[in-house]
Amino acid sequence: MSERLFIFDTTLRDGEQVPGCQLNTVEKIQVAKQLEALGVDVIEAGFPVSSPGDFNSVIEISKAVTWPTICALTRAVEKDIDVAADALKYAKHKRIHTGIGTSDYHIQYKFNATREEIIERAVAAVKYARRYVEDVEFYAEDAGRTDNEYLARVVEAVIKAGATVVNIPDTTGYCLPSEYGEKIKYLMEHVDGIDKAIISTHCHNDLGMATANTMAGVLSGARQVEVTINGIGERAGNTSLEEVAMILRCHHNINIDTNINTQKIYPTSRMVSSLMNMPVQPNKAIVGRNAFAHSSGIHQDGVLKNVQTYEIINPKDVGIDDNAIVLTARSGRAALKHRLHILGVEMNQEKLDKVYEDFLKLADKKKDITDDDILVLAGADRNVNHHIKLEYLQVTSGVGVRSVASLGLSISGESFEAAATGNGPVDAAIKAVKKIINRQMTLKEFTIQAISKGSDDVGTVHMQVEYDGQMYYGFGANTDIIAASVEAYIDCINKFRK
Ligand code: KIV
Ligand code: ZN
Repeated sequence: MSERLFIFDTTLRDGEQVPGCQLNTVEKIQVAKQLEALGVDVIEAGFPVSSPGDFNSVIEISKAVTWPTICALTRAVEKDIDVAADALKYAKHKRIHTGIGTSDYHIQYKFNATREEIIERAVAAVKYARRYVEDVEFYAEDAGRTDNEYLARVVEAVIKAGATVVNIPDTTGYCLPSEYGEKIKYLMEHVDGIDKAIISTHCHNDLGMATANTMAGVLSGARQVEVTINGIGERAGNTSLEEVAMILRCHHNINIDTNINTQKIYPTSRMVSSLMNMPVQPNKAIVGRNAFAHSSGIHQDGVLKNVQTYEIINPKDVGIDDNAIVLTARSGRAALKHRLHILGVEMNQEKLDKVYEDFLKLADKKKDITDDDILVLAGADRNVNHHIKLEYLQVTSGVGVRSVASLGLSISGESFEAAATGNGPVDAAIKAVKKIINRQMTLKEFTIQAISKGSDDVGTVHMQVEYDGQMYYGFGANTDIIAASVEAYIDCINKFRK
């Protein structure tokens, strides 16, 4: 009988902290339901005290999800814990995740405190959280750089205070796998009462070792892993859920199992990538576009003779179905609805009708409609509440001529027009937008990506615009990449605070 590893998904908390990846409550519920279908044990739904939006999302996710535990993050502060407990009131299974920095860097510079004071604050927070819920997880922030002896004292104290799970984050992604594994082993061997709590890993990927560190922790006795879909998260991200799940699937001899329905991995990855406007790198393990593409002649020959020569995972096991029906202009509403359902997207009839209308328009321009196209269409109404909208755009460009763009914007219902020339069509179009929106804004980053392959493909554009000392993130998707670029630029402007 294999041992059970609990999967704690923090896509909606640590993942959502990534600039430009913010979701609204409806989108968060969609992701939470997909995580439930995927089989995660714990969903970290947010940090309720941080904003009314986060508070509300924890409430709504608690109502929408049935069997996973819903977890809310707090600092070791009573007010945070009060607010988290309130946000969790509808959760069928609830957990408060409280904690404090334990490395000398944090103790000295963040808290200007002593090690003893930190233990006192940690214990007080756990006891306070236990007044509200039975399931309390404690995190020792920057445990990766905390010396093992002191960390063991912290862990022992919080378990005595009632922590049911103790999280050992490598917050800065600093540890080597051997070091992180040793750390967990040290705790398993030196903490009195360690059997009364589950030890959890939480590894960041700053040096590209998040998954290796997580696995080292699991092999040393951790029985919960904190992960995100596609490995998204602060800076270089967190450990990827899909990597840990498939490592355990491929290495039966480890004899540790999760509750993950691996066939839901790919649709979940696509959903998160699409809703968060966060492309997955093509060579990303398990879910990247090239993860199963054998391009060299030697590999192709081997795979044709016997797939096991070069393939350790059957793509179908992670939900990639090469035979999936591709939708075309002849596909009906029912086929679209069915495909959306497979992708984890449910919608009412009114929205389905609108998406179908957009689908037919896209199918007019593009022969085959892929899953990614459908996900972009399903998310297209994200901009309906924008007060600035693109009404029309016309661009002339070519080799040896200066590009000219003329466009119309509607601002809170009123129409404005402008024309400009530029060093290329995007430059001309953005200059025309700037003539109407007369503000000091600077384009800081601009990436264009084709969703799949063909020249008729939908181009997706990500932009970062700096305005008034703040960075704003925008997204656009269109078969016309100039239009997608202008949409992304306008998306940024719509987010300006003033
Ligand atoms: O990386 C980290 O230390 C965290 C904690 C807040 C759990 O995300
Ligand atoms: Zn983290």
